[in-house]
Amino acid sequence: MKRVLFVCLGNICRSPTAHGVFRSLVERRGMAHLVEIDSAGTAAYHVGNPPDHRAAAAALKRGVDLSDLRARQAVAADFAHYDFIMAMDNENLSELKSICPADYKGHLGLFLALSSLAEREVPDPYYGGPAGFDHVLDLVEVASEALLDRIAAELHK
Ligand code: 4NP
Repeated sequence: MKRVLFVCLGNICRSPTAHGVFRSLVERRGMAHLVEIDSAGTAAYHVGNPPDHRAAAAALKRGVDLSDLRARQAVAADFAHYDFIMAMDNENLSELKSICPADYKGHLGLFLALSSLAEREVPDPYYGGPAGFDHVLDLVEVASEALLDRIAAELHK
C-alpha cells in the first residue's frame, strides 16, 4: 500500500484536479486497493468547500468527477501517514517543508518533477480564464502517469 497526498494553496483548483485525475488513473490500472489518495491546501481559506466550479467542469469534460471532494488544510500529522506528498508549486513546497518533521522518510517534492515535463510547477489558475484549468489538466495527466509508474516500481521491490 502507498499513500499519496496532493497539495496546493487552496485545495479547490490544482490539488483536487490532481486527486481526481490520479484516482481515475489508479482505478483504470486496477490499483485502487494499493494506493490511498487525498489532497489538501497549505491555506485554510476554503476548508470544507467543494472544488472550484471551473476546475470541476474542466475535469468533467475529461471524464473525471471531482464532486465528492472537500477542501482541508495540510497538517504536520500528514507526514506520519503519506508516502508521497506532492506540491503543485515551489511556494506550496516551502510551506510544507516548514511543517515537515526532520525524520520524514517519504517523498516530499514537486509533483511535476517526477515527470519529464519541462515545467516544474503547476500554475495557479484561480485568477485566470478557462484555458488555465485545461493547462492544469494537461500537466496533471502527464505527471500522474509518472507518479503511478514510480509507485508501481516501489510496490514491486
Ligand atoms: P489552488 O488555487 O491553490 O489551486 O486551489 C487557489 C484557490 C484559491 C486561492 C488561490 C489559489 N485564493 O486565493 O483564494
